[in-house]
Amino acid sequence: MNLRQTVTAAFVARATRRIHNQVLSLASTENSNEFATSYHAPVMWKECVEALLEGRDERRRGLTLLDGTLGGGGHSEAILQRLTAGDVLFGCDVDPQALKTATGRLERYLPGNTSHGPFFVPVQSNFGSLVETLAKTIHPISNKPIVESSLDGFLLDLGVSSHQIDCAERGFSFQQQGPLDMRMSGVGMTAADLCNELDVFELKRILKEYGDEPRAAKIADSIVRCRPLSTTSDLVEAVAAVTPEYAKKGRRMGRTATLARVFQSLRIVVNQEYQVLENVLTRVAPTLLRSGGKLVVLSYHSMEDRATKRAMRDGTLERSQRDERDMYGNTIGPPRPFRTLGKKRKASLEEVDVNPRARSATLRVAEKLEN
Ligand SMILES: C[S@@+](CC[C@H](N)C(=O)[O-])C[C@H]1O[C@@H](n2cnc3c(N)ncnc32)[C@H](O)[C@@H]1O
Repeated sequence: MNLRQTVTAAFVARATRRIHNQVLSLASTENSNEFATSYHAPVMWKECVEALLEGRDERRRGLTLLDGTLGGGGHSEAILQRLTAGDVLFGCDVDPQALKTATGRLERYLPGNTSHGPFFVPVQSNFGSLVETLAKTIHPISNKPIVESSLDGFLLDLGVSSHQIDCAERGFSFQQQGPLDMRMSGVGMTAADLCNELDVFELKRILKEYGDEPRAAKIADSIVRCRPLSTTSDLVEAVAAVTPEYAKKGRRMGRTATLARVFQSLRIVVNQEYQVLENVLTRVAPTLLRSGGKLVVLSYHSMEDRATKRAMRDGTLERSQRDERDMYGNTIGPPRPFRTLGKKRKASLEEVDVNPRARSATLRVAEKLEN
């Protein structure tokens, strides 16, 4: 390439980059998330609200909805803005800090602050125990507890909020120095307890099963060698000791991606996320939703999405029950509580540009069938 061609190529590249950046910033402005706060930006909120309220029978007054993962209250606020007098949204979180933040944000919808609604009722609970918790919670209009088959819609936006990740003292992030904690509820075993007390085989199993970690054995060995671990930096060092900063085989094998998988797998075990998810998808949601009620789930990694897909399709996560067939090859087993609605959905490119966390989100929707 001669000098003139080189200069022209550089000019074209620069102009292309400028146009690309302008398009991105235009997209960002058009798609700026009006329910985002410094606490958290709700992912795919329009799609979630649409899925919950689509086909609403206008003659049917008084919807009862449940946001099982209140977080900063972004999805809840978006839902409440579309509800009308006589509707009620219950908002649940296991984390007392999240509940406090969201309740402050949604104060104007609390039953004591509005005479006609829509109403917002905060509930502190693990979503795996919502059948029991709601049985003791009074509906602000009927003045009765929430019983079986009474919900019109149930939203789950799984995982942790940006605020939880950003809080160094919660110990969720490998990019922040803090205690190796990771408990959403603030009670029970911490990630440090797991690293210090589990044997090497159990650590390896956790990293493989919940993180799909290719170097599970080496990392488990290193954790055991580095004991006692008490901070996020201790765990980062244990992982760094057996992981190159950059890997020849690509980003997945590099240190950052490895740390993300290791922290995620320990977080899943600390909060018993698999067991709780199975419980909410196969027991809580089918019990609380009325027939025709919607289950809307946003998941962020393959374990969560696989569980959601199976529960919506088969009503169980157990392979043995799913595959039971009669002598003619027809599937038998427990009755299916849901009908899947549409295909899984991903966030738009514009939303991912504004909120990179949306990249890994998968949205699935199902409708509760007649009992
Ligand atoms: C992704 S954030 C939700 C963000 C929320 N949709 C918003 O718009 O701000 C997930 C929330 O679910 C909560 N959570 C996670 N597991 C839970 C569980 N088993 N029971 C109740 N809440 C849970 C977390 O504490 C966190 O606040």
